[in-house]
Amino acid sequence: MITVGFYGDAEEAAMWQKSLAELLPDCQVVDLLSDVGRMCDLALVWAPPPNAFINLPNLKGIILQGQGVDHMMADETVPRDIPLVRLVDPDMSDALSHWAILNALDFWRNGSHYRNHQLQRKWAPLTQRRSSGGIVGVMGVGAIGSVIASRFAALGFQVRGWARTPRSLNGVEIFAGIEGLGAFADGAEIIVSVLPLTPQTTGIMNEDFFGRLAKGAFIINGGRGPQIDDDDLLAALGSGQLAGAALDVFRTEPLPADHIFWSHPKIAVWPHVAAQTNPATAARQVAAAIAALMAGEEPQNRVDWSRGY
Ligand code: GLV
Repeated sequence: MITVGFYGDAEEAAMWQKSLAELLPDCQVVDLLSDVGRMCDLALVWAPPPNAFINLPNLKGIILQGQGVDHMMADETVPRDIPLVRLVDPDMSDALSHWAILNALDFWRNGSHYRNHQLQRKWAPLTQRRSSGGIVGVMGVGAIGSVIASRFAALGFQVRGWARTPRSLNGVEIFAGIEGLGAFADGAEIIVSVLPLTPQTTGIMNEDFFGRLAKGAFIINGGRGPQIDDDDLLAALGSGQLAGAALDVFRTEPLPADHIFWSHPKIAVWPHVAAQTNPATAARQVAAAIAALMAGEEPQNRVDWSRGY
């Protein structure tokens, strides 16, 4: 029997038990913090409390229910000497690409303008933006970003991708490293970020960056909140350099009730829902990680602590 210590609510634990049991019949999901959880072989968590992994004598690896690992990096009690595996589920890439496209097209076709006009019973067409060749820049072109970039290309946009290191992606012009960031941003009309949070990406969307975009550009952040300099964002929205922003992630989550973003007319606030983990589809990735870790093999999507994701 393989014992998986789960941190989360009982309903979610039951869902994981059901979907994992179909793939790994000898796998039991138990509460990580219970006595039996203390004897687990593996942990399956999203945001565990500090010290959750102390005194787990059998622990061979930790599997995350999401993609981002910045919170695990920040917790010094997470053991560094056993594998940490993140979830790379195509269902989440699909969901995030839908969210990014929804917000991009809503901006591109002036959705919020017409919604406001409807409230005022006002019939006032704007000139339509061009239907092909709009410049979209996707920041982070890994498992999720490459799906997003390819889908924008299929919609007729001219797509750029920005990555830490050079790579190639059909139909997408890639810019790499901090030295490539300015050219990536130059004249871009829509930015979609799905970057992981690392010291290099913290504050990457700031005054300089916004200043290089096309006037009236739109920011879509599905990465992590600290990648945006909030004051610079507000200034760029105020000056009209940016037309708006759709944000799913924030420096503090939940976004505090008195935060200015809630009522800002040019900001759409989403409560970190752009891509939620779907146990039914993610179970295949989790089962593969469990099998590899139990066999002492290198799991796919193992986090590299030095790289930061
Ligand atoms: C969600 O934000 C994730 O990192 O999976």
